[in-house]
Amino acid sequence: MLQRVDDIVNGFLNDLNDKKVLELYKEITSGKKLRAKLILKIAEQSDEAYVLAAIVEMIQVASLLHDDVIDDADTRRGKKSINALFGDKTAIMLGDILYSKAYYELTSLPEFVAKSISNAVTRLSIGELLDVELSKSFNKNRDRYFDMIDKKTASLIEASAESAAYLCGKDSKKFALYGKNLGLAFQIIDDILDITQDAKTLGKPALHDFKEGKATLPYIYLYDKLSKDDKVKLENLFKKDLTNEEKNWVITNMKQYGAIENSLELARDLAMEAIQSIKEYKNIELEKIIQDMIQREY
Ligand code: FPP
Ligand code: MG
Repeated sequence: MLQRVDDIVNGFLNDLNDKKVLELYKEITSGKKLRAKLILKIAEQSDEAYVLAAIVEMIQVASLLHDDVIDDADTRRGKKSINALFGDKTAIMLGDILYSKAYYELTSLPEFVAKSISNAVTRLSIGELLDVELSKSFNKNRDRYFDMIDKKTASLIEASAESAAYLCGKDSKKFALYGKNLGLAFQIIDDILDITQDAKTLGKPALHDFKEGKATLPYIYLYDKLSKDDKVKLENLFKKDLTNEEKNWVITNMKQYGAIENSLELARDLAMEAIQSIKEYKNIELEKIIQDMIQREY
């Protein structure tokens, strides 16, 4: 199923008649393709659904190429990132090529789908901009965090689910809600994993987000709960290279005050809401996507 998505992407890239692009593309480590899976499970694998899945995966890869430049990330999916291997300029341009070709192909799909996906890309770019803004100082505001992850992560998953539903005549509004809540839960879990998993399993060092200026949900919860003095201590650790002792202090306090547990509970509630919005379709596989996501390794 996902092999066919890869074949379509490779076909699109072959159209470009450029050896360098194909060479570089091969260096990208492939991911879980959550969005493609979601589209194919909702739209029951029609030809148009495969094209949509390929387009969305190209957009996703493009956005990660740019994100790794923005975040100055050396690794992606446990391997060296494209910017680390070939430099920022190459990563940005490869992202632009994938992104514009994906847009070109999007014009062959119904207008509803083209609008939904292109609007999501604008939103995800605004979300990334917001992420950069929020990273400048310690953000303690939950609403701003939610607004950012809604745009940065949930928007493309929401549009993918909505568009897939449209392609097969299902209720696109209900699937949009499913996708949005799935996306929010997904990002919260990703943010928790940065704290709870070690470098080996995650492919990036634990507590990396805080060092990068990203005060994710568990940090916001923790800050709320800490004493005055400890609030100051946490603020002083923001964006710093933490010693093992400091990392332990953060993690111990998070455990003590239930910051991880509360964040996980919120992610679970969102996941349950997602399942709820499409329950009439009794689609076990779509429910399974959610279960798999919540039960990722801690
Ligand atoms: C990952 O965030 C980043 C995103 C989900 C979106 C990035 C979007 C852009 C760079 C806008 C440009 C868009 C296109 C289509 C060219 P993260 O840093 O929290 O996650 P990570 O841990 O996987 O790096
Ligand atoms: Mg990043």
